[in-house]
Amino acid sequence: MEQFEAYLLAHLPTVSSPHPHYEASLRQMLTGGGKRFRPALLLGVVKAYNPLLLQSAYSVALAIELLHTYSLIHDDLPAMDNADLRRSIPTLHITYDEVTAILAGDALNTYAFEVLSNAPLSDKVIVKLIRELSSNGGLSGMVLGQAIDCHFENTPLTLDQVRILHINKTGKLIAASLKMGAIIVGRDDRAQELYDFGIDLGLLFQIQDDILDVTQDTACAGKTTNNDEAKNSFVTLLGLEKAIEEADTLAQKLTLQIQSFDENLQRELSPTLTYYINRHKE
Ligand code: IPE
Ligand code: IPE
Ligand code: MG
Ligand code: MG
Ligand code: MG
Repeated sequence: MEQFEAYLLAHLPTVSSPHPHYEASLRQMLTGGGKRFRPALLLGVVKAYNPLLLQSAYSVALAIELLHTYSLIHDDLPAMDNADLRRSIPTLHITYDEVTAILAGDALNTYAFEVLSNAPLSDKVIVKLIRELSSNGGLSGMVLGQAIDCHFENTPLTLDQVRILHINKTGKLIAASLKMGAIIVGRDDRAQELYDFGIDLGLLFQIQDDILDVTQDTACAGKTTNNDEAKNSFVTLLGLEKAIEEADTLAQKLTLQIQSFDENLQRELSPTLTYYINRHKE
């Protein structure tokens, strides 16, 4: 992943304008040091099936990280989760102002698709990738999840409804990361299987995030924690102990599923998956 990090740093948005901090605001959250979980998933699939395409896949992984980073910038806005810290640095609306944070998010969202459209891959593959990123990251994916999340603050949903919320706001982009890896290497026959696995993985990732909101302090998480009281999180709904049980059950299911993956895929993805599938147990 060091190579991806270097690629990202070499491809930060560059804009010269009279605006005193526009360019800096676009770059700040990208260089803040995220876990790069979604790029790791996509690149793992590509490396497993066709390592020769790894270099070409970096721009696709970057596009996903750009869209994800935009979602975090907007998620932290006062109108949404009102968080002061992200990736261990002050959020953009704290460093600058709300206008800057809203527009930096907008710019990173569209820049993601600019980067994707310029990927060194066939036009046919690029169109498929744009379809996946836009549908899973957009109006019937991440954005829908965020809308449900914010609309139902202080209004309890059922557990099944919270599953739908989590699958949309977090699961679909994670599932798309795996599926887009399969599309890059022309293994569309593996795309659905990876997508379905990714939905469960993303659900687990968000349940863990709900758990970490109450178990980690802000400094350790690098983001504002203890921030979900009004939210429909697994912890507010079930309590910490039951939320951990739910995560354990999903973790067990996913661990079993990995064993049925192609050998190359197991080799490339297992280290990342094993780490993240168990991260709530630390
Ligand atoms: C945070 O995502 C938001 C969720 C979907 C839980 P990450 O936990 O992947 O955040 P970064 O990218 O490492 O900052
Ligand atoms: C946000 O979920 C998911 C996104 C689509 C950004 P959270 O609101 O729980 O994410 P954190 O805890 O702020 O990272
Ligand atoms: Mg949120
Ligand atoms: Mg949040
Ligand atoms: Mg959270």
